[in-house]
Amino acid sequence: MKKLLSVSLAGVLSLGISMSANAVSQEDAIEYRQAVMEVIAWNFGQMGAVMKGKIRFDAQAFAKRAGNVAFLSQLSLEGFIFGSYEGETDARQAIERNWDHFKAKMAQFQEESAKLAEVAKTAKTRREVGLQFLKTAKTCKGCHRRYKRR
Ligand code: HEC
Repeated sequence: MKKLLSVSLAGVLSLGISMSANAVSQEDAIEYRQAVMEVIAWNFGQMGAVMKGKIRFDAQAFAKRAGNVAFLSQLSLEGFIFGSYEGETDARQAIERNWDHFKAKMAQFQEESAKLAEVAKTAKTRREVGLQFLKTAKTCKGCHRRYKRR
């Protein structure tokens, strides 16, 4: 019993140590935010294909995509941690220097994608979502132009 207790205590302790040692490396943060961006791009790209007439407009499918992007827009910011702008990343150092501006750009994206999700809920035609889709797309470009290499 005593031995069991000490073994499990050691287990708990080592778990705690390894967890704190791993408390988000720069590589993890880079992978995380890139993964979120990829998932955003998948969903956004599907809507883009609809806007270009490559995929037929399906109100339900479009609303689902728009909802996904609105949700995902909330996730990437926490991956832009301090000191993670070198190595396998296209994120520019400027993010760190202009953090408040970068956050504002992210907030714009969140706002416009939330509006897109809202409009998409009741839209019956592609035309009804067109303007808000473009507005949202502009927030991607508006941020990438300044804060993403390539
Ligand atoms: C507030 C800034 C910001 C907004 C808004 C934003 N992005 Fe990004 N995005 C970035 C940055 C910075 C990177 C580079 C991340 C890295 O390499 O660490 C990136 C990377 C990407 C990548 C490449 C991911 C990879 O695997 O390297 C894609 C694709 C992408 N974004 C798509 C989008 C789309 C689509 C939107 C809009 C629907 C969008 N982004 C909105 C800042 C933004």
